[in-house]
Amino acid sequence: MNPSILILNARIVNDGAISEGDVFIRQGRIDKLETDLTAQTADIRIDAAGKTLLPGLIDDQVHFREPGLTHKGDIASESQAAVAGGITSFMEMPNTSPTTTDHAALEDKLHRAAQTAHANYAFYFGATNTNLEAVKAVDPGRTCGIKVFMGASTGNMLVDDPEVLEGLFAEAPVLVATHCEDTPTIVANEDIFRSRFGEAVPFEHHPDIRSREACLKSSRLAVDLARRLGTRLHLLHLTTADELALLTAGPPDPKPITAEVCVHHLFFARSDYAARGARIKCNPAIKEASDRAALIQAVVDGRLDVIATDHAPHTADEKSLTYFKAPAGLPLVQHALPSLLEHYHDGHFSLPLIAEKTSHAVARLFAIEDRGYIREGYWADLVLVDLEKPLEVTRQRIWSKCGWSPFEGLTLRSSIDTTIVSGQIAYRDGRVKPNCRGQALTFKR
Ligand code: DOR
Repeated sequence: MNPSILILNARIVNDGAISEGDVFIRQGRIDKLETDLTAQTADIRIDAAGKTLLPGLIDDQVHFREPGLTHKGDIASESQAAVAGGITSFMEMPNTSPTTTDHAALEDKLHRAAQTAHANYAFYFGATNTNLEAVKAVDPGRTCGIKVFMGASTGNMLVDDPEVLEGLFAEAPVLVATHCEDTPTIVANEDIFRSRFGEAVPFEHHPDIRSREACLKSSRLAVDLARRLGTRLHLLHLTTADELALLTAGPPDPKPITAEVCVHHLFFARSDYAARGARIKCNPAIKEASDRAALIQAVVDGRLDVIATDHAPHTADEKSLTYFKAPAGLPLVQHALPSLLEHYHDGHFSLPLIAEKTSHAVARLFAIEDRGYIREGYWADLVLVDLEKPLEVTRQRIWSKCGWSPFEGLTLRSSIDTTIVSGQIAYRDGRVKPNCRGQALTFKR
């Protein structure tokens, strides 16, 4: 049985407020949440004075590469990086090998995660041009959503047959999560840049190839389809000011169309390609500083509902290739929260807003059972952060298998002190605890 844990004197960020308090965790759940629990006995006591306790992050978009692409990462390695970054639950994407586009592949991933995941887990079921019947059979209680690549990216999972899209948007039994970039627009741009530069297109042109027009065209199609067919649509990783016009401000709960933004799109901009090149090449591309400013504003006003990572590790060797060969995607889970806390230090986001977008809203939007808040009776998924302890990002301390980070060379102003997953210490004192295991997320739909 898990040891009981008592967290004392924490500054607790939860449900729109900040208060001082103590938390007692027993049998995986938050047993007591009170102002003074000093008399409580417990197996482990954590003095959290001066530190800030948030609900653990629920990352609704990661690529952990298992099965089949495990030279880049696997469920064990990437979930270690996740808990080192305060992420206590993840939802993983289907572009593995084989793809998660049939029920056997989905069960295989659930089985693997039960053995090795350090965080709580769920998996998307991937749509293809030919698997609508399998999509319809997905269990809404166990599967976070249906992933539709409406733009081609890593893995060959483009869904571009208009009839299939209609069928998916009309009949998916759970939320449809889309990657929106118009592939014909991108292919035409690739031809233009290849004829100008050959293979070695400078990486700063990535946002010209994976252009804002490509994003808007595809996101608009998804929104039009969803409005017409009554789909519960979740637009993933939006990157442009233009797409924000498709969205409604306010909390996600009654909205049929919600949207996600990712930490790197809130952090980097076009000027960063000069120094970081392929290491910030991702799809959709990091775009202009003005887009980043608009995304930050849309998090505040609620047009963007969720902040996630799209953690997508590739090896350093793969990333050293020329433009067309270097794969898109960044390892992000370990530094996502410290990077978001930069926005807190800069006065862009309050701590309750960060908790809302990274945990509360995700739990409500996906109807996750008993997680996403610091509440008595809920699973104890928590992250304790030190807002005053700077974190120098170096290659020596990377938990992802790929061994590098797009934040390398930067000093972020906050660090992760302790992460608790389903009532177990998952990360503390700079160490991932080898025995911590996450649980399958369940959805009350
Ligand atoms: O940059 C990206 N990388 N975007 C995606 O959509 C896929 C991901 C990956 O799997 O590498």
